Amino acid sequence: MRTQVGIIGAGPAGLLLSHMLYLQGIDSVIVENRSRAAIQQTIRAGVLEQGTTDLLDQIGVGERARKVGAHHHGFDLRWRGRTHRVDMQGLTGRSITVYPQHEVLIDLIAARLATGADIRFEVSDTAIHDIDSTSPSISFTDKDGIAQQLQCDFVAGCDGSWGVGRKSLPNAQHFLRVYPFAWFGILCNAPPSNDAVLYARSPTGFALISHRSATVQRMYFQCDPQENANDWSDARIWERLQSCVAGADGYRLNEGPIFQKDVIGLRSFVCEPMRHGRLFLAGDAAHLVPPTGAKGLNLAANDVVLLARAFEGYYKRNDTSKLDSYSTDALRRIWRAQHFSWWMTSMLHNGVDENAFDARRSEAELDFVTSDRNAEIAMAGMYAGAPLGE
Ligand code: DHB
Repeated sequence: MRTQVGIIGAGPAGLLLSHMLYLQGIDSVIVENRSRAAIQQTIRAGVLEQGTTDLLDQIGVGERARKVGAHHHGFDLRWRGRTHRVDMQGLTGRSITVYPQHEVLIDLIAARLATGADIRFEVSDTAIHDIDSTSPSISFTDKDGIAQQLQCDFVAGCDGSWGVGRKSLPNAQHFLRVYPFAWFGILCNAPPSNDAVLYARSPTGFALISHRSATVQRMYFQCDPQENANDWSDARIWERLQSCVAGADGYRLNEGPIFQKDVIGLRSFVCEPMRHGRLFLAGDAAHLVPPTGAKGLNLAANDVVLLARAFEGYYKRNDTSKLDSYSTDALRRIWRAQHFSWWMTSMLHNGVDENAFDARRSEAELDFVTSDRNAEIAMAGMYAGAPLGE
């Protein structure tokens, strides 16, 4: 088998890259170790920056996100029992869409397969070879148990934090911060509790109130990373969530049966550089952010815009300059998103050793970013995200 760009991973980065290359007339093959059904059912976060929705539109896969996604002009910050609406649209002219990642994947897989794309699901033993040469390859065992070799010009490692992409990049420096708390996420059948995404800081910890539809809601609360989701009854979960958002204004969440529970670890991670020879990393393979700023999928989209542009330069104009600057170009936005995600996380969570002074200081920070117009514009701008590829 031979292709121009061999892509490992059919997540957001791999599928977006494959589709953007296809639109430029550049051939790719995707190898993926999960099944199509597993990918389409994995529950993930759901915020698309305006730049990401615009990109999906430009490449012809934005229709469902526009139709069934929830478009928000603002988001809410809540502390000391009152809520402040950050009017993103008014402050920055930009907005976000709540549309979960697995829905984006359903749309991208359908679009790729409609063009006859070659996606190999359920492969195993994936390995990357000869990235220092001009003809690297990917070896794998296909779902029928047959050993395969994919020759390519370039390899794109879009296979997340545990994939072979990152492991195959020699001499990279890894930057890591693991947070001493996690998120307990639930999906429940209930009417919406708020008309925007709400981030709450409280003496019982952080909570995030998001939604999925008129009848399904997504919520999270801060928990210990070792927490076992099955130790929590519905009653206990609701008691905790209600206490995280309680206040003198009498705000309460609409409760309902919980049908999914998960514990999500929080980490910040960057791999530098994101390229060696003919191997390029994109998305979670190269970086992770804690979910508080909802940047993960959007950062992957930005990597892909830069990488697709770099491959286009190479194939159309024999110009390698954008391939050479890819890592540096991508890392600028990645580090800014790292700062934003770390900052939102620190401001909104209760630190493990937090004392009364730390709590007051964080509340003062929330007061500052919601009452100083310039600070609020800066925060809203970071949340809404700059156009991709800049
Ligand atoms: C959701 C997840 C996030 O991490 C976030 O910041 C906002 C919303 C969600 O799952 O809807």
